[in-house]
Parts: sequence; C-alpha cells; structure tokens
Amino acid sequence: MQPFTFSHLPEIIFGAGRLAGLASKAEHLAGKGAAVLVVADPTLTTLGITGRALKILKNAGLEAQVFDGLKGEPKVADIDAASALARTMKSKAIVGLGGGSALDTAKLVAACAASGLGAQSYQLCETPLPTNMLPIIAVPTTAGTGSEVTRVSVFANADKVKVWAWGEELKPNVAILDPELTVGVPGPITAATGLDALVHAIEAATNKHHTDGNDLYALKAISLITENLERAIKNPNDLEARGSLLLGSCYGGIAIDNCGTALAHNISHSMADLAPIAHGRATGLAMLATMEWVSHGDPQAFAGVAKAMGTADPVKAYERLVRATGMKISLEGDGLDLSKPELLAERMASPANAPMRKSNQRYPSDAELVDLARLVYGLR
Ligand SMILES: [Fe+2]
Repeated sequence: MQPFTFSHLPEIIFGAGRLAGLASKAEHLAGKGAAVLVVADPTLTTLGITGRALKILKNAGLEAQVFDGLKGEPKVADIDAASALARTMKSKAIVGLGGGSALDTAKLVAACAASGLGAQSYQLCETPLPTNMLPIIAVPTTAGTGSEVTRVSVFANADKVKVWAWGEELKPNVAILDPELTVGVPGPITAATGLDALVHAIEAATNKHHTDGNDLYALKAISLITENLERAIKNPNDLEARGSLLLGSCYGGIAIDNCGTALAHNISHSMADLAPIAHGRATGLAMLATMEWVSHGDPQAFAGVAKAMGTADPVKAYERLVRATGMKISLEGDGLDLSKPELLAERMASPANAPMRKSNQRYPSDAELVDLARLVYGLR
C-alpha cells in the first residue's frame, strides 16, 4: 500500500460561457458592493476580454478596477505596483485574468496587499505568507500553467533571477475555466502553453513523488492534451478541443501541485535566468532533449505515460507532437550562448532549482547536468 496526501482543490467551474458566474463568486468572497482588483494580461484588453470581466463585476454592483501593467513574466516591480493599487482601492478580493503570468502575479498581489510587504519578501519561503490573504479567483485564458489550482507563484526577483513563492495560502479559492476565453490564443502560444501543461503532467506522473491518487489527474491530463493540442492549433475556434486543453492544463496543475515537476522545469527555469525565453517553449524543448535520459529512471512510470498517450514509445510520440505544433526547435537566436552549456548547467545546479533536480527518479550528477545542457543546446 502506497501512502499519500492529496491537497484540497479550489472550487472548479468549467464550461463555455462560465465567465458569467464571476460576479456571484466575487460577491460571495468579497462582499456585496466590495472593491475587487482584476489583475489582467494586457493583451486581453485589446481582445475585449478584460472589458467583459469588468462589466460582469460592475453590473453586479462591485467596484472593479483593472491592473494590466504586466510586462512579460511576473516581476517584483509589477507585483508591488498592483499590490499598491489593491491597497489604495481597499480591494477585498483579487481576480487573476490571463495566462500563468497574470495568475501568478494575482496570487502574490493577494498576499502583498494583505501584508503590505513587497513580493520579494516571499521568495523561496523567506517570509511566511500572511494568514489574512485576500481571496483569489483565477480565470485562465491560456491552457498552460494550471496556476489556477496550484500553491506556487513563479516570478523574477530584483536581481532578475527566477524564483518561486509557495504555500497553501497562495492557492486560489475559485478557478473559472471558460474555453470561450481561449479561442483567440494564437497557434504558437497554444503550442507553447499546451506543451508546458503536457510536461507538467508527464513530470508529475514520473518523478519520484508520483502517487496513485495524483496519477488520476496526471494521466488524464496527458490524454486530453495529446489528443487535442494539434486539433486546437489547426482549428483555433474548436471549442471542444479548447475545453479539453483547458481541463488538461488544470489537471496538470493539480498534478504538479501534489507531486511537483522535475528536470525539464529545472532546465527551463535555468534558461530563463540566462535569456528571456517563454516558459512554455523552454519547458517543451527541455523535455524534448532529455525525456529519453529521464525515462530510464522509471520505465514503469513511463509505461503509464505511453498508455495515456496511446502509444508504445512515449519519447517518439512526444517528439512527433512537438514537431507537429510547428514550434521553433533550435535555440539559435534566442539570446543564449549555445557554445557554453556549462553556464546552463551551473544554473541547473543552483539552490533555487534544486527541488526540480532532486525530484527526478534518476538524479543527475554535476557532470550529467553539463551533458543534459548540451543536449538542450544541440536541439535542431
Ligand atoms: Fe511549467
């Protein structure tokens, strides 16, 4: 018998058009007529999605304001600016609207607005999270991070180093998964975020923390994403495919919330320290380069992945899928010095990335980190 602990889930609301329920959830958590800050990805303003969310909240008598001053992946300066606005407007709840960056920002804003501390205080669990966090409603508009159901927030600190904050308090209260919000996501972003979600599920199903309970979500996520990623890229308006990806990324999020990630995330976080590479693509490519090596650590777990992907050879099936998405495979021109894999290996050995190194069934030695970095840099 394998003992395990499975963490609680946020309330998950899934289905086309379910954004309409945002106001009643916000009112329930924040109070009638309360102030609510929406932390939104700026691209959603031009798509009209932020306006829709704002209208839903205002029509219900809530005092809603938007912070959409995010630039790329979350940074302490942006989180602190949003937190200052939340405090000024006396926000009683935070809505995160967007991809992983907006959701991770929103989660930390809910902490910083309550405590008055800057986001950097919470890096790597340096300060306990406040017990009076503002409630969080997470509305993902990409199918990727699964941040809407996790206890983690990844951001860049003042030294531009990618770090994380972690704690029960950061888990959103409610996740609203409305596939209508994801039909406008362009092909390359659908590909990168979808592969990130798939890697979450594969890593959670195969690292040394994986459990039977968590495999329910991880393996289902693998099936949903494998079956629907190409379909959604080819037909962006395919609501069924979009819904399956959104559910797959949510299940992938649940999977990493319970069992964590592994080597591919160690590598993508390390790459982010060296050059501004989008997380989804970096992670997808890191898995592409290292899956074969990692799979020798736990053939049985990878047999489970193979079954979920409907194939006998998950490494080949994964490579076929990555190439079919049309994603740029080579890292040439991405701002990394490809002649120096040892610099990447150095980051892979850093304390901030240690948990993702240690979770592998097959522990990479320092020398193996350089070999693995070379595999990533050699992708063509
Ligand atoms: Fe990820």
